[in-house]
Formats: sequence, C-alpha cells, structure tokens
Amino acid sequence: MRQDKISKDRRARRWQDYVVAQNWESFTADDHAVWDLLFARQVELLGSRVISPFLDGIDLLRLSHPGVPDVEGLNAILSPRTGWRTVAVPGLVPDDIFFAMLATRVFPVGNFIRTREQLDYLEAPDCFHDMFGHIPMLAHHDYADMTRHVGELGVAAIAAGEGHRAARLYWHSVEFGLAKEHGELKILGAGLASSFGESHFSLESDEVERLPFSVSRAVNTPYKHDAFQPRYLVSESLEQTIAEVLAMSPEQLLGF
Ligand SMILES: [Fe+2]
Repeated sequence: MRQDKISKDRRARRWQDYVVAQNWESFTADDHAVWDLLFARQVELLGSRVISPFLDGIDLLRLSHPGVPDVEGLNAILSPRTGWRTVAVPGLVPDDIFFAMLATRVFPVGNFIRTREQLDYLEAPDCFHDMFGHIPMLAHHDYADMTRHVGELGVAAIAAGEGHRAARLYWHSVEFGLAKEHGELKILGAGLASSFGESHFSLESDEVERLPFSVSRAVNTPYKHDAFQPRYLVSESLEQTIAEVLAMSPEQLLGF
C-alpha cells in the first residue's frame, strides 16, 4: 500500500507530466502583435547593453521572425545545434521539475503570452520571458552545457534537501547575472534581458550593490523573486561564469 503511494507520488513528479501542447494555432492575432511589440521594444531597449552572444543567439535561432515562435519550429533549429529543445508548460513548474528538465536539456516555455494591458507586469513568466530571455543563449554550446550542469546540480541539491543552494546559483547567473564584456558591464541573465524596467536598472541604478561573481557567493546570496534585485553579481566575463559553474560538483555546491 505504502509502496503504491510512493510510486504514485514519484510518477506525479515526472517532468514529462508537466508538458502540455503549445497549441500555437490558438494564439490570436493580438497575441502575435503583443510578441512583436515586446520584441521590438526590448531589442531597442537593450541595444548593446546585453552580452553579444545573446544577440547572436537571436539571429542564429531566427527569433526575430514575426509572431510568437512555435516550439516545433524553434526546436528544428535549436536541437541540431546544441541538443536542447523547448517544451510548452502552462506556467511556473516546481523547482525539482525545472531542474530535472534542465538536466535533460529541456527548457520549459509558457504556453501563453501576457496581454497588452500587462506589458510590464507579469505574475508568472510568459513565453516572451522564456523564449526571448532564455533561448538565445541556449544556441551556444558552452552556455547550453553550463545550463544543463545547473540542472544536474539542482537535482542533486534537492535530493539532499538543499534546493535553495542551486536556486541561488541559478538566480545569480542564468536569471539575473551581469557580466563584463570588453571591460563594459553587460546583462547576462534572462530575467534582466527580458525585463523592460530592470534591464536598465540593473546596469545604471546607484541604489543597488554589484558584487563580484563567484559560485560560492552566488550560493550564499539570497534573492528577491517579487521585486527588483537589491544586489547583482558581476562576473569578469561570460566565460568566467561558465567555467566556474561547470567546474562545480554537487559536493562542492552542498559544502559552501
Ligand atoms: Fe526565467
């Protein structure tokens, strides 16, 4: 009986169970227009404030094609490049599911887009955040590999009851990291790259702390999930972030 319950619970936590059809056909003309508006506005806003591989990734994956990208079309370009694919989900997935997806080179993207009335305010990440913010960097082998490794670290950390350590590492690199590029401060994280308000704020505000990135600092630095960050971690380069994260073992993550 108890065994039955455990196996049923385990089945309920398979990442595949969170995947839904994107139903691309059900996006309305206004949904596509919202994507185009967000895309044009954000590319102009970012200019050269984001690390250049991000902009290269947009080109490589043809994300500037008008309208909400369909996951199959996106995967047809992304998967042969780096082995990653996107899957549609109905909203935020639990951390254990999210990290299990990353460890399998699967990135979840919301099957919905914000409305015109919500351009700058989001209760949950939509497909603009997920696809515009995250997917361009997954076109690059080294970054894609780092993201897979973060997923593996996350799975191990959650199994050890220390999921917050992996969540902080993820947050301060993949989501809200900053990095220098040719000596200039740039946006690295998807949460910043896709944000109208926080992209400039993270680079220009005098009211925040900017501390040098290290994996140990990332693991030990709390974050806010419902407001602009009070501090950002700045790596010396994108390559530093990738090398440090890839070099970290689950044992090290749990030991910091
Ligand atoms: Fe995100």
